[in-house]
Amino acid sequence: MGRPAPFFISADIEKPQNDMTLDIDQIGKGFLDELRTIDSLPALAVFRIKYYGRQKGVLTLLMKELQNKSPENRRDLGKRLNDLKIEMESAIAEKERQLAARELDQRLASEQVDVTLPGNRGPLGHSHPLTQVRYEIEDIFHSIGYSIEDGPEIETTYYNFEALNIPEHHPARDTQDTFYVSDSLLLRTHTSPVQIRTMEKHCPPLRIICPGRVYRHDNPDATHSPVFHQVEGLAVDEGITFGDFKGTLEYFLKAFFSERTKVRFRPSYFAFTEPSAEVDISCFVCFGKGCRICKMTGWIEVLGAGMVNPAVFGYVHYDPEKYTGFAFGIGIERFAMVKYSINNIQYFYDNDLRFLEQF
Ligand code: DAH
Repeated sequence: MGRPAPFFISADIEKPQNDMTLDIDQIGKGFLDELRTIDSLPALAVFRIKYYGRQKGVLTLLMKELQNKSPENRRDLGKRLNDLKIEMESAIAEKERQLAARELDQRLASEQVDVTLPGNRGPLGHSHPLTQVRYEIEDIFHSIGYSIEDGPEIETTYYNFEALNIPEHHPARDTQDTFYVSDSLLLRTHTSPVQIRTMEKHCPPLRIICPGRVYRHDNPDATHSPVFHQVEGLAVDEGITFGDFKGTLEYFLKAFFSERTKVRFRPSYFAFTEPSAEVDISCFVCFGKGCRICKMTGWIEVLGAGMVNPAVFGYVHYDPEKYTGFAFGIGIERFAMVKYSINNIQYFYDNDLRFLEQF
């Protein structure tokens, strides 16, 4: 850092001996001494006013005093005073440069950022457990050649019921507690209508799954929710047998739950499949011995399925003599609850991070 500009009172000027000359000399010295003690910009601002202040500044007062001197003295003193003023100004300016540079250095030092420090990682979110389970199901079926189809959540009674072989007044309509939008429109009660929509669009062979939201007029409790999720599955081709149906579902259930899982098919009824089955897996807690989870049966029911009813093929103009197929309906919540031993479906919808962060 540079030294203050040299400050001097010209000694070579012929000095008429009078009070003011003394003043000028002393003021010059005092100014320098005081300037050395100033160590901040605000203090320098105050200091500047002390000397240059319009009313009571030391130099201002000296200038005023000059008016009372004889013309001869006035010229000489005026020149000395002016020199002094110029020298003081440059000394203040130099001091100001020094102080500003020092303050900048200090600020840079105190605000220094260490770019090598590790950053703060924000918490990372992840997909919802129901989404994770849906992806797992999709991955397994994708790996054996199934593609994914989509369909509307507001459906017609035709696709949700009629084309699935559930005519008006059929008791199966009552078991599906339906939210109606109008006489012929409803919130789909299952993903099965996508079977019909897909078969209308494509000729066999078909292998599809359809994940999606479904709605039922149920009061929320530990096992019911008015909105939940299913994955519908459908395979249609020439020569598909009950063996293909069993083999495919067994393969899927072992892949999803575990290799050790045993699978059992129980006769059941769905209007759109014939024969129909309810599919159970062996209890993964007691391995079939009987426990609280499987209600002492050794088995846990996981899905409904069956061979596509030829009557359904009639609605989509597939030749039932030529084609056969199977279909299944998976409850995503049900699968997640069984896989992770979750005893209340409401946990999925509460958005409590203590629950969600476990997945
Ligand atoms: N749609 C049925 C339900 O929601 C589930 C189901 C059963 C789907 C059998 C199917 C099936 O495709 O074959 O209760």
